[in-house]
Amino acid sequence: MKECCITCIKISSYFWQPNYDPNFIAMAYNLLKGKRGIITGALDEHSIAWKVAEKAFEEGASIVLTNAPIAMRMGQIKILAEKTKAEIIPADATNIEELTTLFTKSQEVMGGKIDFVLHSIGMSVNIRKNISYEDSNYDYFLKGIDVSALSLHKMLSVAKKLDAINEWGSVVALTYAAAQRTYPFYTDMADIKAMLESIARSFGYHYGLDKKVRINTVSQSPTKTTAGSGIKGFGDFYDFANAISPLGNASAEACADYCVTLFSDLTRMVTMQNLFHDGGYSSTGISTEVMSKLGVE
Ligand SMILES: NC(=O)c1ccc[n+]([C@@H]2O[C@H](COP(=O)([O-])OP(=O)(O)OC[C@H]3O[C@@H](n4cnc5c(N)ncnc54)[C@H](O)[C@@H]3O)[C@@H](O)[C@H]2O)c1
Repeated sequence: MKECCITCIKISSYFWQPNYDPNFIAMAYNLLKGKRGIITGALDEHSIAWKVAEKAFEEGASIVLTNAPIAMRMGQIKILAEKTKAEIIPADATNIEELTTLFTKSQEVMGGKIDFVLHSIGMSVNIRKNISYEDSNYDYFLKGIDVSALSLHKMLSVAKKLDAINEWGSVVALTYAAAQRTYPFYTDMADIKAMLESIARSFGYHYGLDKKVRINTVSQSPTKTTAGSGIKGFGDFYDFANAISPLGNASAEACADYCVTLFSDLTRMVTMQNLFHDGGYSSTGISTEVMSKLGVE
């Protein structure tokens, strides 16, 4: 980004991630050669799904991009589609009919069954409206559950009924550590992510047993995206998590690399897991960096 004025400097420094070396390019290994995938949730170049789409394409996959019709108008998905030679098929992830069209058309345009799916969808109206957890509006809460958790169930149910996913196919949904431990600023999304992880386990059993399709969630570090930055106090928390994690926060690019491994044949026996991709954050009680900031010798 060109820093032509103070606003641009502020924006570029906001999205600058201390642990992402812009010169580091993971080598492409053709891990997804011949595979067909559906990638949800690429809103703009900061979206985790955007990076996953780029990496999946680099690794030899054919992909379909999808997002809610309203996000299509706001986002820059066409730029990504051109870059990754992808078809765009809009679908509201809460709508069974639109999901049925998504899975049916995706098979048509890519010429066969799907090998991998990325669920990268999250939205809480309570967070957007800055409503505290205790005062949660229940209509907004239900909306958040439908969009961010039940949408995974709906996608899997539609895909299974259509028999749209190949044997040993892989579905990955993105989640956050607030599903296990309390982060007050994450409000209703904490409960919603717990439900998302549970759906991955429960559906993972049935889909694994019947069709050998595996389903996992990846619990990602705080990441500077549109959804992430909508959370009050996110910037301070981002710095805190970075100071706790021995490897620092995992970037969106690193998350994309990890998702690629989970879509690949190298992880065929991994299913029904919640996998932390967080630079060691979830296993660290306190770091020397945070202790010294607190003035502890
Ligand atoms: N950013 C973080 O700090 C962070 C950390 C851990 C996990 N995650 C998770 O990663 C996922 C992706 O979020 P992101 O940070 O890349 O932000 P993002 O805002 O770029 O992506 C969220 C996407 O959800 C889509 N979406 C919302 N409602 C939808 C609907 N009804 N149908 C279809 N799509 C819909 C949005 O259009 C958007 O593209 C989310 O599940 C989020 O909770 C994010």
